[in-house]
Amino acid sequence: MAFKDFRDYLKLLDEEGQLKRIEVPFNVELGTNELQPLMRYLAERDGPALILQNLEGYNTPDIPLVFNPFGTRERTAMTIGCRDPLETKTKHAKTLADESVWLDPNLVNRDDAPCKDVVIEKADIALDKQLPHVWFGKEGASYITGGLGITKDPETGERNVGCYRVGQFWKASHPTGGSYSEERQTKQLLVFAFWNPPASHIGFHLAKAVRMGKPLEVAFACQCDPAIHMAAATGVPFGHDEFRFAGGLRGAPVDLVKCDTVDLEVPATAEFVIEGVFLPDQEETIGWHSNPVGYYDPVQVFPMMEVTRITHRKNPLWYATMEMIPPFDHNYIALLPVEGEVLSDLQRKIPEVKDVVVTPNMTYIVQLSVDGAAKPHAEFGKYVLHAVWGAAGRWGRTAKIVIVVGPDVDPYDMNSIEWAIATRVQPYSDTIINQSGQAMVLDPSAIKGHHGFPVTSEQMGIDATIKVPERFSEYQEVSMADPADVAKIADKLKGVLD
Ligand SMILES: Cc1cc2nc3c(=O)[nH]c(=O)nc-3n(C[C@H](O)[C@H](O)[C@H](O)COP(=O)(O)O)c2cc1C
Repeated sequence: MAFKDFRDYLKLLDEEGQLKRIEVPFNVELGTNELQPLMRYLAERDGPALILQNLEGYNTPDIPLVFNPFGTRERTAMTIGCRDPLETKTKHAKTLADESVWLDPNLVNRDDAPCKDVVIEKADIALDKQLPHVWFGKEGASYITGGLGITKDPETGERNVGCYRVGQFWKASHPTGGSYSEERQTKQLLVFAFWNPPASHIGFHLAKAVRMGKPLEVAFACQCDPAIHMAAATGVPFGHDEFRFAGGLRGAPVDLVKCDTVDLEVPATAEFVIEGVFLPDQEETIGWHSNPVGYYDPVQVFPMMEVTRITHRKNPLWYATMEMIPPFDHNYIALLPVEGEVLSDLQRKIPEVKDVVVTPNMTYIVQLSVDGAAKPHAEFGKYVLHAVWGAAGRWGRTAKIVIVVGPDVDPYDMNSIEWAIATRVQPYSDTIINQSGQAMVLDPSAIKGHHGFPVTSEQMGIDATIKVPERFSEYQEVSMADPADVAKIADKLKGVLD
């Protein structure tokens, strides 16, 4: 059954003991940095989701802060009604591959849309008072991280929805020593519109609008049913509507409502909606920003939007997150769509692909359902490596390290993967070094092009399958206890060792 909204998802977490309301004070001001260590602390112990109710230095004390809602693979699975990671990505991959199961969104009346409970008109916009601001680590700005950015193609009218970060200027420290005007701080926001290779779709829309000399309207819907966030984080092909894909994932259409000041539609149960328009020819410098590969980007330049209206629910909730050395809260909800995209493409052509796991550090593990003599042909592992780099979509081509393993290797367990490499790989013969791969845009070890981003990157593929028939006619038997036998022993020892 689909979640009605973000609150419905939190209710499930609560019922399962995976959500705690916290009165312990945490300071969220620029430079104090209690939220980054809090996230690390939770990540190290698969900690629960939190509602932080007692923040110090917080500009909107009436708005509780939801923290770490997606912090485990299980909670990410729960966003689309699953529990097991493979079940989740298989559901995602199948839905992504079959547009016939996507569902058109449903337009509801304004009166039936909780996101319109409270309306703040353009003349009254004061972002410093109306939008929560919290700072993480050494970040210079408070970023909006729970928003779905919605735009329409200025040529075709086709909609795009994506998770894109938004920078807020209020009290932000300027990375090159400048300052932000009062107007920037209270009425304008900055949109991370050109971040993902080859470019995020909001960036395509903006580039088209600029070329056509048209303004581009935009809305950010914050904290929706998390299945919609997962759909928005998926590299759905350009021109295809993520709300329709979300309908397929939810098994029920997404309820949308028309915006008031722009010709766009947003999820009716969003906690906050920020409407606006990109400012033509205006970009701004922002930083530091902590990125998902674990480094600070000191200076970034992005386009600006002017806010034309904010609407929100009664007693709204805010969600904020950051990126740093993985794992971190939204790691898994960002990676599952990557896994689903690659799995969907590989399974269409290679039925022996059982699972694709993208680790928090973005190593791609492909698990096969066969190994050794059961592989369809010699060097099958290398064929699969090439298939990852040639996979349709945005991500496979940027896979810097790919490892192919057999069915007896646990693709979620680095120890198991390391064992396969140690005992099934000859480094010269069983690896491929691809010198002309596409770079993962945030990888600091890849040489940057003239515009400041890396384009190409070297890549490494490791075929950790059993080399039968390539090198041997048979392989030694694995020595490992059967999990069922381990369970029996545990039973036998119940109460003895505890
Ligand atoms: C919480 C979260 C934050 C994200 N932030 C950004 C971002 O700031 N910029 C970006 O380009 N992608 C970001 N992503 C990844 C994109 O949402 C993802 O690549 C998506 O496919 C982009 O949509 P598009 O393909 O329609 O452009 C984020 C993902 C998540 C889950």
